[in-house]
Amino acid sequence: MNVAPKPLPRSAAMDLFTSTRARSQALAAPLCPEDMMLQSMEDASPVKWHLAHTTWFFEEFILKPRVRNYASPDDRFAFLFNSYYTQAGPRHARDRRGLVSRPDGEAVRDYRAHVEDSLASLMSAARDDSDDIAALVELGCHHEMQHQELLVTDLLHGLSFNPLLPAYKDPEPLPVTSEVPLTFTRHDGGLVEIGHDGQGFAYDCEGPRHKVWLDPFDIADRPVTNRDWIEFMEDGGYGDTRHWLMEGHAVATREGWEHPLYWWRQDDEWWTYTLRGPQPVALDAPVVHVSYYEADAFARWAGRRLPTEAEHEVAFRTAPIGGNLMGEAGAIGALRPLPGKGVWGDVWEWTASDFAPYPGFRPPEGALGEYNGKFMVNQRVLRGGSCATPKKQMRTTYRTFFYPHQRWQMLGLRLAGDAA
Ligand code: AVJ
Ligand code: FE
Repeated sequence: MNVAPKPLPRSAAMDLFTSTRARSQALAAPLCPEDMMLQSMEDASPVKWHLAHTTWFFEEFILKPRVRNYASPDDRFAFLFNSYYTQAGPRHARDRRGLVSRPDGEAVRDYRAHVEDSLASLMSAARDDSDDIAALVELGCHHEMQHQELLVTDLLHGLSFNPLLPAYKDPEPLPVTSEVPLTFTRHDGGLVEIGHDGQGFAYDCEGPRHKVWLDPFDIADRPVTNRDWIEFMEDGGYGDTRHWLMEGHAVATREGWEHPLYWWRQDDEWWTYTLRGPQPVALDAPVVHVSYYEADAFARWAGRRLPTEAEHEVAFRTAPIGGNLMGEAGAIGALRPLPGKGVWGDVWEWTASDFAPYPGFRPPEGALGEYNGKFMVNQRVLRGGSCATPKKQMRTTYRTFFYPHQRWQMLGLRLAGDAA
């Protein structure tokens, strides 16, 4: 049965807009202009660019098509702040975003204010197609929340090249914890349904909802911890080709990987760099900053495998969204994984599933159809959200995706296996 989705009330869209825009400002508030320009690699963008690109998104996809005679503060911003939408026109080279010192931070703040004011007037004017605009505002907010996650993880990567290892937020001591035993829950599988049903917001790639056959499986009740990971390291896991995909081992060898990103050895202890500065590795917190290749090798070493995204969704879809996610403005949250048993937050969990279209998937017409669909090759799906994922954008059907060699996001894993 198909139930038409309830349209989003305009006031709800505006509330989301206000709180989302405020969170971006709050995230940038502790930074100096020099911090906001760092770009440490092509995959990462400067904070200033994130603040401008998320603003361009509202301008390009809502204000320009819907406001008669809309005037941008600067028509050249479209070239600077379009990320990858070929149907929205030409754009600046992604790997050179860190070389753009003008417009300066103040001009980007003015750009944000201009777009916010224009959008507020549009939303308060009486129009017949308001539902459609409200839905676009909602998409723009979810887009900005994705960039809030990228903003802090890109910043961490940029700051990690500073020998002084500055703390973005005040260091907070971790609670003293003890080992959480690794247990598994068995699921019968069978014919199940996964994917979004169209009620409420979701990205296009989360649907259509469809049937999947699952054989019985076991899935771990907690993510893999740093304690587990050190055991893998001490057992020679990184050097033992038996556990590794050939391509993964080639990358690990070429890059000299012997531990997760941001780790080093100091006074007979493992240390790591976090958004709260250098910290001893917390043994009972989920391991973070590992690639798909490393996660896959770990699982094989442990005599297990990674779950598929369908297994992950079925296992956790009744778990209420909560836990160590990014909070609201003013209370950003821990910004690093914490010990515990929850599934939402802390670290994104690599799955064994390709980021591929669900049966019947068709991206929308036009530039917004480029949002997810054109990335459906050679990437893996991750589930569960992280300590850098705003809580408001988490859903049980949410699939994010990264390339198997990437490590700079809050990426971890959970073990699964075939059940008898
Ligand atoms: C889903 C996180 C891979 O980083 O490009 C941002 C999110 N999409 N703007 C990305 C996104 C459009 C996307 N990831
Ligand atoms: Fe974007």
